[in-house]
Amino acid sequence: MAAHRCCTIVTLLGLLFFFSLILAQGAAAAASEVEVEGGGLHLDELNRLLAPDADHLAASESNLQRWLAHVRLTSSQLPYTHVGSNSPKYASSSLASEDKHVALTVLDTRFNNSKRLESARGSSSNRKSHRVCTKNVIYVEKDGSGNFTTVQAAINSLPRRNKCRVDIQIGVGVFREKVMIKRSRPHVTLKGSSQGSTIIVYNDTASSRDKHGRLLGTIHSASVSINSNYFIAKNIAFMNTAPAQKPGAVRQQAVALRISGDKAAFFDCKFYAHQDTLYDHRGRHYFKNCYITGTVDFIFGYGRSFYEGAELVALPDFGNPGSITAQKRNETTLDTGFSFVNSRITGAGMVYLGRAWGNDSRVVFANTYMDDIVVPEGWGDWGIPARQKTVFYAQFNCTGPGADTSHRVSWARNLTAEEAAPFLTPGFINGEKWLEGYKEHH
Ligand SMILES: *[C@@H]1O[C@H](CO)[C@@H](O)[C@H](O)[C@H]1NC(C)=O
Ligand SMILES: *[C@@H]1O[C@H](CO)[C@@H](O)[C@H](O)[C@H]1NC(C)=O
Ligand SMILES: *[C@@H]1O[C@H](CO)[C@@H](O)[C@H](O)[C@H]1NC(C)=O
Ligand SMILES: *[C@@H]1O[C@H](CO)[C@@H](O)[C@H](O)[C@H]1NC(C)=O
Ligand SMILES: *[C@@H]1O[C@H](CO)[C@@H](O)[C@H](O)[C@H]1NC(C)=O
Ligand SMILES: *[C@@H]1O[C@H](CO)[C@@H](O)[C@H](O)[C@H]1NC(C)=O
Ligand SMILES: *[C@@H]1O[C@H](CO)[C@@H](O)[C@H](O)[C@H]1NC(C)=O
Repeated sequence: MAAHRCCTIVTLLGLLFFFSLILAQGAAAAASEVEVEGGGLHLDELNRLLAPDADHLAASESNLQRWLAHVRLTSSQLPYTHVGSNSPKYASSSLASEDKHVALTVLDTRFNNSKRLESARGSSSNRKSHRVCTKNVIYVEKDGSGNFTTVQAAINSLPRRNKCRVDIQIGVGVFREKVMIKRSRPHVTLKGSSQGSTIIVYNDTASSRDKHGRLLGTIHSASVSINSNYFIAKNIAFMNTAPAQKPGAVRQQAVALRISGDKAAFFDCKFYAHQDTLYDHRGRHYFKNCYITGTVDFIFGYGRSFYEGAELVALPDFGNPGSITAQKRNETTLDTGFSFVNSRITGAGMVYLGRAWGNDSRVVFANTYMDDIVVPEGWGDWGIPARQKTVFYAQFNCTGPGADTSHRVSWARNLTAEEAAPFLTPGFINGEKWLEGYKEHH
């Protein structure tokens, strides 16, 4: 659905992180000389580095050190000029491959792995506390020490239409697989490790083909697709590492996660991709303290969603502003829309707060910090001026240089406290009751 963006793949973790990592490892590196060199690190190798057992740790630590020695970052080579005044800086490379893209996240993982190993001993009593219904915890570990080695295998093992919540506890590592939860598998929780990164990654785009040769389209490009109700995710990074394409390329949407079930909740999750990162397709959804990054329409769909404490990070725009949202409410009588509260907008590319994919697109930002990367006019009508009369685009009590409403399009709204009230709590998604019931699960 979205316009193509022209850019090279951009790695996602900040220089700041690199500096702390490098410092922590005792290496002396000048902050201004950072460059990711060529010579791909392959996912297989990454996975080997991530082997979670202690015996492999020493070996992978030295491998990692070796790899790190090959990593130099040069901020002068960043392929963009504008970085929000309060935004994280990015490492990037003209040679960047998707493996590196994952690699940077993995470095973060490895950094935390030792902590995990420390606490791994004697964790059996902890494990019990995750249990909701007896024997309803399934462990996924890459090294075979759990019940399954892939997330999908764990999901496939579930009974159909189970009434009892099942916790799928996923260990640290890069799970390179496409995950699909069918409508007949409700009450699933995917829980990543709290001591390191649990990453589910794939790289399909809208123009990838399935095994029968059919185009996937945006909807099936998702690395993770959830069609069932009552889904919960915690502590997981969902990624789509399809590289951004050359100018003129079409059908390059690459979704990291699609949520199409009702009453879903995401806690402390991360969503990485370029175009169309998070397909907030339909249903009522709660996002708490999630990190979401992308270029254009990186949160899009018909969903009715409440985003609390979101970290919204715009990737470089290459001269053509992107958009955080593309909400698709198509009838004013529908209660769908996206509400962002107590969130932060930062990044390296200029962005619209939203553009009107649907006639009655509805998006509200409240109590949110906006860096100077938000375009002054704020909102776009998708090239269809009639939508200016029917969309509902509003701000309330936002702060930061990008929050100034004096240059917004005339059809954007400033809400009063009274008007804003319905958008400020999980009541927006009727969450008072169902969300309360999720508390014990995270
Ligand atoms: C998972 O593995 C544990 C121990 O390794 C075992 O007790 C449990 O029954 C297994 N669960 C399933 C669903 O296979
Ligand atoms: C690593 O641990 C630190 C401190 O516990 C945490 O802030 C950070 O988010 C962790 N990184 C990942 C990728 O889990
Ligand atoms: C996805 O990654 C695989 C293996 O790295 C590669 O062969 C394939 O071309 C990639 N697909 C896309 C659409 O980038
Ligand atoms: C609005 O969108 C919903 C969800 O896709 C669809 O079922 C419905 O037919 C649409 N309504 C109109 C008037 O297009
Ligand atoms: C959107 O509005 C236009 C008129 O401005 C109308 O022709 C069209 O049917 C509407 N679309 C939907 C899905 O309601
Ligand atoms: C306005 O936002 C700030 C946070 O930026 C918050 O502390 C304050 O309570 C908000 N005011 C209202 C009226 O909601
Ligand atoms: C919103 O407030 C700003 C700053 O006071 C003002 O310039 C702008 O005209 C207002 N917008 C609307 C639609 O009232």
